[in-house]
Parts: sequence; structure tokens; C-alpha cells
Amino acid sequence: MAEFKLPTNSIVKMNGKQFAAPAGVTNTRRFKVYRYDPDSGENPRVDSFDVDMDSCGPMVLDAIIKIKSELDSTLTFRRSCREGICGSCAMNIDGTNGLACTTAIADIQGDITIYPLPHQPIIKDLVSDLTNFYAQYASIEPWLKSDTPAPPDRERLQSPEDREMIDGAYECILCACCSTSCPSYWWNPERYLGPAALLASYRWLVDSRDDATGERLDDLEDPFKLYRCHTIMNCAQVCPKGLNPAKAIAETKKMLVKRRL
Ligand code: SF4
Ligand code: SF4
Ligand code: FES
Repeated sequence: MAEFKLPTNSIVKMNGKQFAAPAGVTNTRRFKVYRYDPDSGENPRVDSFDVDMDSCGPMVLDAIIKIKSELDSTLTFRRSCREGICGSCAMNIDGTNGLACTTAIADIQGDITIYPLPHQPIIKDLVSDLTNFYAQYASIEPWLKSDTPAPPDRERLQSPEDREMIDGAYECILCACCSTSCPSYWWNPERYLGPAALLASYRWLVDSRDDATGERLDDLEDPFKLYRCHTIMNCAQVCPKGLNPAKAIAETKKMLVKRRL
């Protein structure tokens, strides 16, 4: 697993640079945005941007793009699809993890605070280093393992009932909102797999086409990988796709109990 290091530099200067809207603009919202460049040797700070809402789209990502285009081109963030599919614009908005492209500015009262996903090393500004997160996803071996060769002329078929078993698990977009909101993950990010990787693991555990259930469960028999989940439920509350990793984790624990009986 990748070495996991949080930044040692954690003093955040709350009043960073102020960026006012152009003269004459009256309909503004204030965005308070975390800024940090580990290479600069400077402490993190929070910059304040007054954004003209008459020329801004409705979503938080629209405002961030506008800030970068018109107020400060050095602001760094990830985004791709702009429609809640790629997971790359995940960040902490108004104190809650979510996708900037599907979070409406109008749904937030007062100043809008924007931080990177919590408890991850920072590459720059709103870009968290998700190396550990992706390595954990890879560690559950998220691919079909079958003892039988694929039929030469068609897909591997499932009954509709078997197919339904993976509903609620296959839709994950790996945004990391859940894992980075999970206190158990904050405390043991190297050893606890976290809700996203465990949901992905469950997706293969219940896939009728997969023949590696025993091997997959063996791998989870560990005091930390699975059992650090204490059912705090932050994961289900923040998932932008409405998924419930906590339930999948509970079902996985049941599978482990059942096979011991
Ligand atoms: S239910 Fe488990 S995985 Fe979800 S936030 Fe709580 S401890 Fe983390
Ligand atoms: S379970 Fe939801 S919050 Fe977690 S990574 Fe997948 S889509 Fe994101
Ligand atoms: S930009 Fe793809 S999910 Fe937001």
C-alpha cells in the first residue's frame, strides 16, 4: 500500500487574499476557498472571492470555473464531466463532502466555504492526493474472477434476480466523498479500506458470475480492513449517488459470520 502522509503544515490563515467583484456589480456571493501550495513553503490560507451571480451558472463548479477564468488563474481543482459522472470535482462544500458540479449555489446560505476532501494529503489547493484511496480500490481486485471460460458467442448471462444483487453497488463513481468523510478512515487510512473500497468489494462478492467469493472474504478477515467500520453512517449521508456503503459493509460482515457457522 502507498505510504500515507498528511501535511505537517496545518495552520490555516483564515484571511488570505480578497478578490472583489468588478465595480458596478451588485448581485454577488462570497466564496471562501482553501489555498495551499506545498512547494511554496507558505502556510495554507483561505482566499475570499466575490462572484457576480448575474453572469455565473447555478452550480458551485460554475463559480469555481469563473473564479479561475476571471479572478485568479492559479486556483487549482479537478473537474471533467460537469454532470456528476466522473467524480473528479469532489470537495468539501459548506462543511459537507459533495460534487461541485451537482451542488447548487442557491441551496447554500451565506458565504460558501470550499475546502479539499478532508484528511488527505494536498497536492495543491482543492486537489487531494488520492493515491492511497486508489491503491485500496485496486487491492480489492475489482474485476471478474471466473473459473470457467467466457462463452465464445455471447456475454456471461445472469438471471434478473442475480443482476439485481449488484444494484446500489455498481453505480459508484469513486469520488471518495464517503471515505474522506468517515472518521474510522481518518484514524486508520492505511489499514481500514474505507467505505468506497468496501462497497466495490461487495459488488464482486454478490456477483453471481464471480467464483472468488471465498478468496475475497479471506482477504477481508482482518481486524482493520473491514472491521473498523463502526456504522457511523457519514458515508451514506454524503454519497452523491445515493449509495449506502455502510449497508454493504454490514452485509459483508454477515457473509463472514455465515461462512463460520
Ligand atoms: S458507516 Fe462505516 S464506513 Fe460509513 S462512515 Fe461510518 S464507519 Fe465509515
Ligand atoms: S460510494 Fe458514493 S461517495 Fe463513495 S466513492 Fe462511491 S459514489 Fe463516491
Ligand atoms: S465534474 Fe464530473 S462529477 Fe463533477
